[in-house]
Amino acid sequence: MHVNDLPTPALIIDADVFGRNLAIMAEHHPGERLRPHVKAHKCTALAAAQQAIGHHTFTCATPLEVIGMAHAGVGTDLLLANETVSAERLRAMAALDVPVTVAVDSEATIVAARDAGIASCLIDVNVGLPRCGIAPDGAGQLADRARSAGLSVRGVMGYEGHLMMVADRAERLASVERSMQLLLQAHRDVGGDIVSAGGTGTFDLHDATGITELQAGSYALMDSHYGRQGLPFDQALYVIGTVISVSAEWAVADVGLKALGMDHGNPTVIDATVWFCSDEHITYQPAGGATVGDRVRVVPAHVDPTMAMHEAAWIVCDDEVVDRWAIDLRGW
Ligand SMILES: Cc1ncc(COP(=O)(O)O)c(C=O)c1O
Repeated sequence: MHVNDLPTPALIIDADVFGRNLAIMAEHHPGERLRPHVKAHKCTALAAAQQAIGHHTFTCATPLEVIGMAHAGVGTDLLLANETVSAERLRAMAALDVPVTVAVDSEATIVAARDAGIASCLIDVNVGLPRCGIAPDGAGQLADRARSAGLSVRGVMGYEGHLMMVADRAERLASVERSMQLLLQAHRDVGGDIVSAGGTGTFDLHDATGITELQAGSYALMDSHYGRQGLPFDQALYVIGTVISVSAEWAVADVGLKALGMDHGNPTVIDATVWFCSDEHITYQPAGGATVGDRVRVVPAHVDPTMAMHEAAWIVCDDEVVDRWAIDLRGW
């Protein structure tokens, strides 16, 4: 089937670009040096491709992602890089055949994990992003508490998400190094083999920071937000739409904000100026005119929420549809 025969809006992954992105990252961070974050794509078939290129440890943001990966038989070591106190979800993760490690940053998260039968944890350390994570100087004491509760403490994690978009590379590098000093300080008090951090925006800044693994996810498919950062990864993901109405100055296609993550701003249409998106429409000004029935490629500004809005992605090679991957890790 040709890509233009798909009903729209349709989520498309360019297989060649996707394959190149995986290869570039695997060369820089081979095997266990990368713990790919599945939150960026929520797709076990895509995770299987990451496993095929050498990565078999994975990062997840929700219990459902952990459980879905285990049921699909992808990954030998799954990290929930997030806090939960849900007894039901923790028990479901503890019952899986694959080893599961959860992030903890408080007494309550330790007790909930222990009571549900979870065996291992990482101490989540705040390295500057005002989100989860204990202050670095409290990490050692929390690790002692986790060990006395019966959990195996495998090390630390600290996500420097506030630094991913620092525009100047030298400034980004200096900030990442300062941020990782906090994580290493915590790690000296915590112990364990793992120091887990990083993302797509800082993937090449960790050669000397002392981390043992990188948690990047967006690199596989990319979005226009990361596309501005001058990274070596190319845009593999777009949403294809159909032009449904044209006026003298603008055209309208059937790709609205219910098909696109919009928290990082408007999507991009090549050779066109996007005016705005509403629920089921994108209104844009095409450079060369448009006709009802034309197809248009819309590049999302944020990959993660875009993936979470679609049931499936179509895998395309030279505009021919070669596969359909279920986005099967959606939900919590
Ligand atoms: C805990 C954690 N680690 C790593 C990442 C890296 O993701 P990305 O590759 O999109 O930068 C994220 C993204 O939000 C995250 O929340």
